[in-house]
Amino acid sequence: MRIEVLLAPVEQAGLAGVDLDATTCVVFDVLRATSVMTEALANGASAIAPVCEIGEAVALRNANPDWLLAGEREGLKITSALSGGPDFDLGNSPREFTREAVEGRTIVTTTTNGTRALMACQGAERVLIGSFLNLPALIAALAKAAPEEVLLVCAGTGTQCASEDVLCAGAVVDGLIGEASGFELGDSALVARSYYREEAGDERGESRIAHSSNGRRLLGMEELRDDVAFCGQIGIHHVIGELGEDGIVRRCS
Ligand code: MLT
Repeated sequence: MRIEVLLAPVEQAGLAGVDLDATTCVVFDVLRATSVMTEALANGASAIAPVCEIGEAVALRNANPDWLLAGEREGLKITSALSGGPDFDLGNSPREFTREAVEGRTIVTTTTNGTRALMACQGAERVLIGSFLNLPALIAALAKAAPEEVLLVCAGTGTQCASEDVLCAGAVVDGLIGEASGFELGDSALVARSYYREEAGDERGESRIAHSSNGRRLLGMEELRDDVAFCGQIGIHHVIGELGEDGIVRRCS
């Protein structure tokens, strides 16, 4: 098992020319897209269809009227002013994706970075959803599957690296070193692991991600500030989302 990490979104464009047939990609958008997807699947959502553009989401909803429209721009729920069509049903706060709201439903979602990172991985053998919420289950599943190549993709914020994504990816590297054998770490995996080991210390995920630029941004928004602590919870779910032909569906570890 060779482990590499894409630390910044600008690296994702290079995936187009890479043979990912033997690669399991794990996408991290801790604040908040992959945390939301994990929460939604844990609460019984049937599937999640990630798209890059608002227009794509609206078109899918028009073709599937019982699907839920979800996503954000600038962190806030997309309204008709932006969509040119309906107000979205849900934003991108994991606290909205309750069992009552999503159980048995298919959700189409578009976010600033998370859905783009997922699309960039589409040529991979497997594409999994990573977050702190399902961290232990994710580590166990990767150790058990022992794919030839593991690529941990940090979705980032805008064009910039997001430290909370690197922290979570580093936690996976550190966990795999404890669980698996016969692996090789690329320099990017060494960097991510070192950051995790340095930053994690005695403080749990919640407090570390609060110091990130995304964490500070959300903490400054009254209606979204509670998302930071929520997304920093470690191991509250055993569900792992996997992107396939029917969108992102639930896989248990
Ligand atoms: C993203 O996709 O960039 C983030 O999830 C945006 C957000 O949730 O604020």
